Amino acid sequence: MPERPSFRRSQSVQPAAEGRRGFFLSMVGVLFGSYWATGLTSLVVTHLLWVLGLARFMFPNVLTEPPTVFKVGFPSELGEGQVQTKFKAQFGVWIVESAYEGQMEIYALKTVCTHLGCTPNWLEAEQKFKCPCHGSGFYKDGVNFEGPAPRPLERYAIRVADDGQLEVDKSQTFQEEMGQWSNPACFVLV
Ligand code: FES
Repeated sequence: MPERPSFRRSQSVQPAAEGRRGFFLSMVGVLFGSYWATGLTSLVVTHLLWVLGLARFMFPNVLTEPPTVFKVGFPSELGEGQVQTKFKAQFGVWIVESAYEGQMEIYALKTVCTHLGCTPNWLEAEQKFKCPCHGSGFYKDGVNFEGPAPRPLERYAIRVADDGQLEVDKSQTFQEEMGQWSNPACFVLV
């Protein structure tokens, strides 16, 4: 006959639980049993938090920024005199097909006001860029004509890529007042 299992197992659990409880109580006693122990524990915890904060500082947030070089479609998708605003939010650029100094060009205007850096809006009905901050106005070609902006909007580099699409490069800017808009890197002839 096999022996019946005894119920002594439940009796052996109790001492283990008591042992854990005793260990916990003794740790509380060690850490907070006196003013000196409490002070030392606070000091250690403070230093630990400081070290963790320092470690966090050493690993800054990773910023995911849009690429500086990107495609904006085929030149044929633009119409004469059109200002394409769909890349403004993501890339901070207007793609414009318009005349500048007698020749039709496609160019990429930077959506940053040259007064204090606000973002103007394209007003189709008035055919101008208007800054909401202090009222500067810019013609379709980016040249300033009203308000406090001291100079025209800037252009980014633009070219026709191998696949035939327009490609904007935001790492290069061109300023009209410096004579840089005559650089073929900042426009595509239509
Ligand atoms: Fe545009 Fe002042 S920032 S007018």
